Amino acid sequence: MADAVYPVPADWAANALITAPVYEERYRNSIEQPDAFWREEAQRIDWIRPFTRVSEASFHEADFGISWFADGTLNLAANCLDRHLAERGEQVAILWEPDSPNEASRAITYRELHEQVCRFANLLKAQGVRKGERVTLYLPMVPEAAVAMLACARIGAIHSVVFAGFSPEALAGRIQDCDSRIVVTADEGLRGGKKVPLKANVDAALGHHCEAVDTVIVLKRTGADVPMTPGRDIDWALGVAGQSADCPAEEMGAEDPLFILYTSGSTGKPKGVLHTTGGYSVWASMTFQYVFDYRPGQIYWCAADVGWVTGHSYVVYAPLMTGATTVMFEGVPTWPDPSRFWQIVDKFGVEIFYGAPTALRALMREGDDWVTKTSRKSLRLLGSVGEPINPEAWEWYHRVVGEGRCPIVDTWWQTETGACMMTPLPGAHALKPGSAAKPMFGVKPLLLDNEGQVIEGAGEGCLVIDRSWPGQMRTVWGDHERFFQTYFTTFKGLYFTGDGCRRDKDGYYWITGRIDDVINVSGHRMGTAEVESALVAHPKVAEAAVVGMPHAVKGQGIYAFVTTNVEVEPDEQLRRDLVQWVRREIGPIATPDIIQFTPALPKTRSGKIMRRILRKIGENDLSNLGDISTLADPQVVEHLVAGRPQMA
Ligand code: WT7
Repeated sequence: MADAVYPVPADWAANALITAPVYEERYRNSIEQPDAFWREEAQRIDWIRPFTRVSEASFHEADFGISWFADGTLNLAANCLDRHLAERGEQVAILWEPDSPNEASRAITYRELHEQVCRFANLLKAQGVRKGERVTLYLPMVPEAAVAMLACARIGAIHSVVFAGFSPEALAGRIQDCDSRIVVTADEGLRGGKKVPLKANVDAALGHHCEAVDTVIVLKRTGADVPMTPGRDIDWALGVAGQSADCPAEEMGAEDPLFILYTSGSTGKPKGVLHTTGGYSVWASMTFQYVFDYRPGQIYWCAADVGWVTGHSYVVYAPLMTGATTVMFEGVPTWPDPSRFWQIVDKFGVEIFYGAPTALRALMREGDDWVTKTSRKSLRLLGSVGEPINPEAWEWYHRVVGEGRCPIVDTWWQTETGACMMTPLPGAHALKPGSAAKPMFGVKPLLLDNEGQVIEGAGEGCLVIDRSWPGQMRTVWGDHERFFQTYFTTFKGLYFTGDGCRRDKDGYYWITGRIDDVINVSGHRMGTAEVESALVAHPKVAEAAVVGMPHAVKGQGIYAFVTTNVEVEPDEQLRRDLVQWVRREIGPIATPDIIQFTPALPKTRSGKIMRRILRKIGENDLSNLGDISTLADPQVVEHLVAGRPQMA
């Protein structure tokens, strides 16, 4: 099974937008004549003022900078809405499915979406929101999340979407970092039949030194009776009621900021990844069309949350730019039962489904019946995103969900890259389960060994990208130096992805996972340092070290080694308290799977924690701990090994 290869199905090879010879030729052009290639691809966007310059980009310190289509102007919301009105104003833009199958779904046409966006944009303007200002969105998966994003894009405000599963603390940090004075939220969210107290979380966050916030717009989702602060809080419906449905789209420079999205790195606080307007629009819409072989009229569903980059690029912006019907689902795959996804596929006639391996693994465990009792005959293409997909899950997805007839595009990319960087194209590439196959047009991946030497041919090393692409992030909000240091100094002049990668004899790429202190829990990216700082903030904790561990459903779980203050006797109660503490500090996605109390952490004589050893213990790879002779106290390791708890 490990070596399975699935050839391109004949109908795909015959009819796809990008077939094998087309891929080869265009890829070569994109690398050899990038200017001409991008000049042409960028025509998919309606520019207000056409660009004359294509790209000026250097990853070197002396002339560091990245810009694309710099003298062009455009508006992304107009590209998502206005330009479709004549041709497909009555076509459904967003098909929304609520958490509960007993509640009605909603279908919003392009014309209706345009009107809602204009009204909400006017409400933002009435609140004094100006071009370049940051607007924080903390919303459930409802169409209004897309409305708010598009409204910001329409008036040139920079949105910062914060995933609705984050805690008040995490929300407060993100509001402060980008100096946002306006927050858009809902009374409550609904997920898997449970209520999420969004407005209460915002109130709590604003109690955490977010004095700058003077406006909170509150959407009624459940109708819960939430306290409203007079003079600060505005009811969404009342606020838009008096607004005009006409709101001119702001003329934005290609390099004007579009959005900030916080993501975790190996050190410090989450970084505000900044994407700009022109390059991102071209990159997101181009990849969408080619990766999903998208044809007008097809029903497309990306099951990601808008709180992550996948939701930005592939639920909202790229599908709408392309004039697609995009499905938005509020709930979770396993509620009310594990058939939910496939029932939605049948309900809407979904042709293209794009989801995360963690959801597939969770569903796979529940047995095939939940899938096979649905029809799924509408499906023609499947996608995977966010984390490595293990071959078992891939095979299940292919055989059971797709009944062997749907190609799977395993798309590797990052918050930083804006959209897909490596993936098979369904009409061009034979599939190998677990491989992200080939680079997207314009992407030049390199594998480097530990000395920074380029590995040619088959081999494994650190994945770097050796030139800019239009959808590349432009800076870390408020810290351009950190942007340069994080991504361009590990290997000079190259973009450092943080991922390990193997290239096989056919030139296929296989992502092997992060090689830095970032872990991927259920497709959610987390810095081990963030979990550590949450743990040490607890009054009874002296020190903490966090590593990833293999987890059958989540991909990676969170393993925390904790040293308590000397006077504290660690017990079960403290373990439970710490789990709750981390959930409160960061959010439920950061729930530790194992907490191991230890009197000491393994350190070198200079006091550095030896994470390599902790990772091995996390992986339960105890026979292979490597050289421990440089430890200040090698005995610590014996204690750690002896005390390793098994998974709860
Ligand atoms: C990290 C980026 C992709 C956008 C959503 C996640 C891992 C992502 C794959 C894949 C193997 C993958 C990488 C990457 N990753 N997609 N198809 N195969 N690994 O974006 O939260 O910025 O996380 O997710 O490790 O660096 P993100």
